[in-house]
Amino acid sequence: MGGPGEGWVRIGDSSLPAGGILGTTLADEDLVIWRSMAGTPCVAEARCPHQWSHLAGEGAVDGEELVCLTHLWRFTVDGEGWKENVSGRRDRKGDLAVKPCVERDGGIWVQVRG
Ligand code: FES
Repeated sequence: MGGPGEGWVRIGDSSLPAGGILGTTLADEDLVIWRSMAGTPCVAEARCPHQWSHLAGEGAVDGEELVCLTHLWRFTVDGEGWKENVSGRRDRKGDLAVKPCVERDGGIWVQVRG
């Protein structure tokens, strides 16, 4: 058993629970690892594209999205940025860069080169 192969790096552990968020760095890049409530692992840049809040500290998982609690922009597992108002209307916002990731052999892996 092993990882997904050459070009992939183990960045986290499968013990990360649904709704969990962790900050980490990879080659000087600040990243967050988070898991949606349905169990999808995600790896993304750590800084909110709005005003740069660090999502390991200011983020919260809401269903299948990572919410920046500073001004409530929210990001899908694919990194699409949205803001939702109190009546449920959703407007497109800036995206969060995500890294290809898979879960394998008890770990969460990101692709560092193709
Ligand atoms: S800094 Fe994240 S929503 Fe404003």
